[in-house]
Amino acid sequence: MAVKGESGSVRSRGADPASRAPLPSASGQWDGRAGAGRRIEASGLSAWFGVKQALKDINMVAEPQAVTAIIGPSGCGKSTFIRCLNRLHEEVRGARVSGKVLFDGRDIYAPDVDPVEIRRSIGMVFQRPNPFPTMSVLDNAVAGLRLGGGLSRSELRERGERALLSAGLWDEVKDRLDEPGGKLSGGQQQRLCIARALAVEPEALLMDEPCSSLDPASTFRIEELIEEIKSEYTVVIVTHNMQQAARVADWTMFLLLGEVVEFGPTNKIFASPDDRRTEDYVTGRFG
Ligand SMILES: Nc1ncnc2c1ncn2[C@@H]1O[C@H](COP(=O)(O)OP(=O)(O)OP(=O)(O)O)[C@@H](O)[C@H]1O
Ligand SMILES: [Mg+2]
Repeated sequence: MAVKGESGSVRSRGADPASRAPLPSASGQWDGRAGAGRRIEASGLSAWFGVKQALKDINMVAEPQAVTAIIGPSGCGKSTFIRCLNRLHEEVRGARVSGKVLFDGRDIYAPDVDPVEIRRSIGMVFQRPNPFPTMSVLDNAVAGLRLGGGLSRSELRERGERALLSAGLWDEVKDRLDEPGGKLSGGQQQRLCIARALAVEPEALLMDEPCSSLDPASTFRIEELIEEIKSEYTVVIVTHNMQQAARVADWTMFLLLGEVVEFGPTNKIFASPDDRRTEDYVTGRFG
């Protein structure tokens, strides 16, 4: 079990929810609605790498306080899809997106939205744990916060400790905060990356095969953690592991060749899918 923060919440903001950082806007207007995570909605979303189309007309919703799994064979567009959800896709030269991604009802591709702020609000954890290897455990946890500047050493330490608690890593590293992040085990490094993502207090967390380089015990630990944090975040996870999708996800989307074959409650996708291709995939007949 993860150790909970002192406030009793795995995501101890230490602040009134209404004080959460709003989405950026040139006009400075945001409706200020705050809740446990925000809804992400892709509508007619297509994406390209140069002339190559990687996603075609994706329509889906990732609900707050729920886990949505993205499954499908290698190359079907899973990573591209989640990278479109926090505007990372456009960082690739020649990459392009059309359609909409709404975050709590607001188009994240609108001209007045700052992609850097979107990436803070919608955090990402990658397939391979990627802590800064020579940076200390604590400094890794607050690496994203440091970029923003403006926090004192003691504030940074407090936010770092909170993030490590939220990521279920505190007990294992509380006596090793000054050691290099690269000295932790693979599973611990991945939880350190989750801590780093949580430290900037996002509203949603995107995870791209976060367990694929981990052993079963570390995988189990991350799955437990996902279960714990989902009450406070909108979680979207890409996985190749059907058991993992079945265990952690409330909703599952099956992608094939850049298109949604089926999207629905996980138990339906696994037990009684509408499409034969979904059944073939989840039962391991291809992919
Ligand atoms: N930087 C890139 N430039 C050009 N094409 C790319 C690039 N990245 C991915 N693609 C292509 O876009 C398609 C979707 O790739 P993507 O990485 O989203 O698949 P994936 O479902 O995440 O696969 P995997 O399960 O192997 O991670 C593939 O055909 C891939 O070759
Ligand atoms: Mg991928």
